[in-house]
Amino acid sequence: MVNVLQQAQNNPMASTIILNETIPSKMALVPDFISSAVEKLRLLPVKENDIFNIKFCLHEAVVNAVKHGNKLNSALGVHVLIKIDKSQLTLEVSDQGEGFDYRVLPDPTTPENIMQHQGRGIYLIRKIMNDVKFFSKGRTIKMIKLFESKGGESEHKN
Ligand SMILES: Nc1ncnc2c1ncn2[C@@H]1O[C@H](COP(=O)(O)OP(=O)(O)OP(=O)(O)O)[C@@H](O)[C@H]1O
Ligand SMILES: [Mg+2]
Repeated sequence: MVNVLQQAQNNPMASTIILNETIPSKMALVPDFISSAVEKLRLLPVKENDIFNIKFCLHEAVVNAVKHGNKLNSALGVHVLIKIDKSQLTLEVSDQGEGFDYRVLPDPTTPENIMQHQGRGIYLIRKIMNDVKFFSKGRTIKMIKLFESKGGESEHKN
C-alpha cells in the first residue's frame, strides 16, 4: 500500500482504487466514514496539506449527498469512490436524490451572502480541487486533486 502512489505515478495506465463504498444516508455515520477514508489515504505518500484538503472536500460532498441529495433518507445510499491515477487523486461522491442545478449556485463572496453560514461547500471545493465536475444532473460530484510533481514546482494551483 505504501508504494501505491509511486506505482501509479510510474505506470501511466495504472489506476488504483483506494476506497469503493456505499453508506446509508445518516449524518451520524459521516464522521467515522470520513475518518476511515482518511486512514486509507494516510497509508499513501500524500502530503499532510493534501490530506487536509481532500478530507475537507470529501466531508463537504458527503454531507451534501446525505443532506441535500438523499434528504436524510437512510434507505438511500451515498456511494464514494476514491482512486489514484498517475499523479492525481479522484474522489467521486454520488447520491440517489433528484439532482440539482449546479450551474446557478449563489456566490458566497458577494456582500449580501458574505455573512451567511451556509452555501460555501461547493465554492470551497472548487477553490481547493484542481478540477470539479458534476454528472447525472448533480447526483455525482467528481473532484480531482493533482499531486505535485517530484522535485519541481507544480504547474497547478495548490
Ligand atoms: N448532492 C446534492 N443534491 C441536491 N442538491 C445539492 C447537492 N449538493 C448541493 N446541493 C444544493 O446546492 C446548494 C449549495 O451547496 P453548498 O455545499 O455549496 O452549500 P450548503 O450545503 O447549502 O452549505 P454549506 O456551506 O454548509 O456546505 C445546497 O444548498 C443545495 O441546495
Ligand atoms: Mg454543503
